[in-house]
Amino acid sequence: MAKKVSLKIRRYNPETQKSHLEEFEIPEKKGMTVLDAVNHIKDTQDSTLAHRWSCRMGICGSCGTIINGKPALMCQTFCETDKGSITVEPLRNFPVIKDLIVDTDNAMEHFRTAMPYTDIINRHASLDKEMIQTPEQRKKIEQSSQCIKCMLCYSACPVVGHNPNFIGPAAAALAYRYLEDSHDEIPNERMDSLTQKNGVWQCSFIGECSVVCPKKVDPAIALQRLKTMGVLHVTKALLTKRKK
Ligand code: FES
Repeated sequence: MAKKVSLKIRRYNPETQKSHLEEFEIPEKKGMTVLDAVNHIKDTQDSTLAHRWSCRMGICGSCGTIINGKPALMCQTFCETDKGSITVEPLRNFPVIKDLIVDTDNAMEHFRTAMPYTDIINRHASLDKEMIQTPEQRKKIEQSSQCIKCMLCYSACPVVGHNPNFIGPAAAALAYRYLEDSHDEIPNERMDSLTQKNGVWQCSFIGECSVVCPKKVDPAIALQRLKTMGVLHVTKALLTKRKK
């Protein structure tokens, strides 16, 4: 007899505002990911099941959920049937819209703090001249450039859970990426933005953001480096002000 995979999926009905775990059983397939299993349930058992996905290869960042209690991408997590039933729930620290779909708008707004758009508006950029970067300069921003905005780090962060206004791990890692970029010409504006009340100081370095990051971006370390840069930035600003 074909082996079965059992999944408990948290369903949320926005009309009644109630949630419950619903159990499904599907035939086991070799190499099946949690995303494959959830898609199979939607295709064959309950078309009302709501979840997000797109690339199936850990690139688009849209399939983040809580799998067996931990934030993870469904497309990068295999169904380990020997460990019993698999529980899939929506990401923590976000309002749930329906079933496994959460509202990430508030967290996405925090990316403005990193001022990512200004990288393109380089004041000395010219169409006639290449903006050369050495391999060493590129290497400095390699790790922090890998973020796919999957929001697993926001879901794992207890500070975000306590204070949704905290800029959060991914926005900080993005800011660090721009500050370390040899093309950056507005470090002061960026640091002004990052050292506000809900900026980098809020991080208590628990480090869960880096543990769950599927791309090994290490936002926890980026945040600590930003704190050091922030101290220098604020001190410099104070001293400059005093001289005036
Ligand atoms: S479906 Fe794109 S990251 Fe999982």
